[in-house]
Amino acid sequence: MRACNQAIIDRMQSSVPLIPQLGAHLVAAGGKRLRPLLTLASARLCGYDPNDPRKRHVGLAACVEFIHTATLLHDDVVDESNLRRGIASANALFGNKASVLVGDFLFARSFQLMTADGSLPVMAILSDASATIAEGEVLQMSTQNDLSTPIDRYLEVIHGKTAALFAAACRVGAVVAGRGEEEELALEAFGTNLGMAFQLVDDALDYAADQQVLGKTIGDDFREGKITLPVLAAYENGTEEERTFWRRVIEDNEQSEHDLAKALEAIERTGAIGKTLEAASQYAENAVEALKIFPESHLKSLLTQTVLYTVNRAS
Ligand code: IPE
Ligand code: IPE
Ligand code: MG
Ligand code: MG
Repeated sequence: MRACNQAIIDRMQSSVPLIPQLGAHLVAAGGKRLRPLLTLASARLCGYDPNDPRKRHVGLAACVEFIHTATLLHDDVVDESNLRRGIASANALFGNKASVLVGDFLFARSFQLMTADGSLPVMAILSDASATIAEGEVLQMSTQNDLSTPIDRYLEVIHGKTAALFAAACRVGAVVAGRGEEEELALEAFGTNLGMAFQLVDDALDYAADQQVLGKTIGDDFREGKITLPVLAAYENGTEEERTFWRRVIEDNEQSEHDLAKALEAIERTGAIGKTLEAASQYAENAVEALKIFPESHLKSLLTQTVLYTVNRAS
């Protein structure tokens, strides 16, 4: 992870000062670095030699984090979010234009890191994931404010915007280790299920977290009229009065000062957070199950702990 962080800092450099400046803001803020951790751990689980002088796992871990960071820069513009990683978001500090453009730069950097690795299968996996993320974000936009969105459509959105990159992060680890398709597919399934669980928990936290701990603004999804499982579950199980409320705040996007508190009450009364976390636990179980082809090892237990962390996290 230290080598990966160094690679991230090195590849953030540019002769255009605003790029490293905005980049330094993001890097200093940290972030969990979960996706690069998955690439490194998957590579090692599959027997990749950490002393290989090419250090392919490190370059690709950095590449995965660049893709993730690019999507965050764009996402905070689209979502009009002002807080990220516990500090002012890049769009709040540097403006939307800078965020979009530096996001493009980071995304392009990720492709340079892929070509530096030189493997076509790796490029296929990471570029496919990149396209899928964008599709997920666009699909999400078209479900916004629509309470008739089926749960399957919501699951398709979170698969695209989040799980696809988790899956790719894991799968490229198996690829650099040169393991067979069975291991690749197992790690891809692990990543997909972990990513689904991760986004479900994230959607619960948007209503249920301590903002200070989460480092993002609570209620962003609500203000935006975003269709997530907490809302779908609260709407489905709501009283007639609550359903009328949801239609006003989500479908008509008419919100006033106390509406978030009312939404939280309805979510609480219908047990919608519990239902969301139950769904997350199911994916988490599937993630652990996907690792069963690998013999017990320190790396495997690390990946299993990552699953536990994901469903129990508060930030
Ligand atoms: C945020 O991802 C975007 C989602 C998919 C919810 P993370 O929560 O992994 O973000 P950082 O990198 O740790 O800030
Ligand atoms: C983030 O989704 C997913 C991507 C960046 C592609 P969200 O918009 O739900 O995540 P947060 O809450 O802003 O981190
Ligand atoms: Mg978003
Ligand atoms: Mg967002």
